[in-house]
Order: sequence, then structure tokens, then C-alpha cells
Amino acid sequence: MKNKVLIIGSSNTDMVVQTQDFPKPGQTVLGGIFLMNAGGKGANQAVAAARLGADVRFVAKIGKDIFGQEAKKGFVKEGLDITYLLETDDFASGVALITVNAKGENEIVVASGANMELHPADVPDVIFEEVAFVLIQLEIPLETISYIITKCNNLGIKVLMNPAPGIKLNEALLKGIFLITPNETETEIITGIYPYDAASMQQAAEILHNAGVEQVIITLGSSGVYFSNASHATLIPARQVEAVDTTAAGDVFNGAILTALAEGKDWIEACEFACAAAAISVTRPGAQSSAPFREEFQ
Ligand code: ATP
Ligand code: RIB
Repeated sequence: MKNKVLIIGSSNTDMVVQTQDFPKPGQTVLGGIFLMNAGGKGANQAVAAARLGADVRFVAKIGKDIFGQEAKKGFVKEGLDITYLLETDDFASGVALITVNAKGENEIVVASGANMELHPADVPDVIFEEVAFVLIQLEIPLETISYIITKCNNLGIKVLMNPAPGIKLNEALLKGIFLITPNETETEIITGIYPYDAASMQQAAEILHNAGVEQVIITLGSSGVYFSNASHATLIPARQVEAVDTTAAGDVFNGAILTALAEGKDWIEACEFACAAAAISVTRPGAQSSAPFREEFQ
């Protein structure tokens, strides 16, 4: 039976410093405490989905350095199927430098390392066995993304793409995507339209539908999400919470949407479920560490 979800993406170690305000170019500021956390969009989404009850297979490329090995221990602890996790001697594991300001906003610079060495040849057909949905992001090579989409289309597996970090995507690539989940800036990069009101949200969604994407969820931070498909065009509000660190809010949202779809929830239920999970994550520091467990809500 096809009941697994497959996430192929990045694993990073996040080096996080809290600060009152982000430094301006050329400025040094004294920050608060330093935290080293497990991160990477792919790994964050995999952990979020597993904590919410999904049966998750995770494929990434890590180095054989201490960061990669610690990340791997974390994946085992979270119960991920890492049978096809790749390890390399030749490249360092991914690292992200993150600054979080007093409003809980973040600035992130990623040293991709091994993540950008995850090539199509590293993605054998066997990883797609028993898989119902595949979730990808943009922290691995575009050539690999393209290969995965084509493979899934040929196998009849639905592809969910969280297009982060944002880059312009061509129509050949968009055509093979079932669900796309850009945030506001990613929406503007991909469609040329900043989604600031219902009309611009729908205009951006239409561009994505016309490119062949069936389901569109634009995430809007504390304003929730805009969901659009052939029968819906609706805003779903976020839960009201006090945000302390929004790092990985999008990742928790994506892991939760994937889980909800694998469970057969309808679109509105799925968006509400994912908003609830992401709202909990922003009340806690870190990336994977902020992802809620299923028993924490509903
Ligand atoms: P990030 O890059 O910080 O991980 P993102 O930019 O990819 O996130 P957002 O649109 O900021 O994605 O957030 C994703 C979802 O998380 C939102 O749609 C919302 O449901 C939830 N969320 C984010 N920020 C808040 C907040 N301050 N309060 C409640 N929910 C939030
Ligand atoms: O989405 C948050 C993640 O982006 C961080 O964990 C960092 O590693 C970068 O990949």
C-alpha cells in the first residue's frame, strides 16, 4: 500500500544568535545567547511531518563531519526512515547562520555544502516505492529537483513543492507540480505579483494555475494562508499567538500539510491543521526543535 511520504531536501546545522535589531551593513551588534540547532528546510519538514504522525522517508546528503553525524542521530531519534540518506567524505554538511531579532523575525545565510552535491544519480527508483506524496524544497540542485518531478510524474506520485529559498521557476518545472506553497516574497519572485490583497493573491494563484499547478497555498505569515484551486479561492486565518522565533514556520506548515494530505483531509481542514501546527512552532525557538507533536493540539 502507498502510504509513505517522501521528503528529499536539505539538512543543515543552524548557528543562531538572538539580537535586538539586525545589524546594518558594516555594523557590529552585541547579541544575546547562541544556540546550535538542527535545521535545513528538508530536514525540518521531515521532522515536522513525523512528529505529526506521518510515515516519513527522508533523503538528503550530509557530510561525514560532526554536524552531519549529529543530524543523523537526530533523524533516527525522530523515527525517520533514512535508509537512503547519503553521506560524503568530500563535502562539509550544510550550515546556516541565523540571526533572530526581538520581533522573532530572522535573517539566514546558508553554506549548502553537501546539500548541493545531491545529484540525480543519488535518487534511485527504489526510494519512490510505497510513496504517495513527495515534498521538495529548493536547497538542493535544480537539476535534481527537475529529475524528481519528472520521475514522480511518470510514477503517478503527487509532488508538493515549497519553493524556498525563492528563485524564478520555469513553466516546464511548474507543470509537474501538484501543490505549491510559496510565501509572499517567493510568490512575487515566481509570479511577478506581490500578494498584498485578495485580488493580487488570486492573480498570482492564477498565474501558477495557468502554468499547470493544480493547488496553490500562499503562506502569509501571521495573516494565515490563501488557498486556491478549481473550486476554492479563500483566505484561512492564522492562529493568534505571541511569536518568539518564526524560523521554520513555513517548514512546519509544509510538513503538516503533507501529513494532512496523506491522511486524506480535505483542503480547508488541511490548511487549518497546518496553520495550527505552524502557530505553535513560532512560539518556540529553533527549527526542528519548534515543531509540535500531534498530541499538542486538536
Ligand atoms: P519561515 O521562512 O519563517 O520559516 P515562511 O516565510 O516560509 O516562514 P510564513 O508565511 O511566514 O512562511 O509562515 C508559514 C505559516 O506559519 C503561516 O501561513 C502561518 O500559518 C504560520 N505563522 C507564521 N508566522 C505566524 C505568526 N506570527 N503567528 C501565527 N502563525 C504564524
Ligand atoms: O526554513 C528554515 C531553515 O532554513 C533553517 O533551519 C535553515 O537551516 C535554512 O535551511
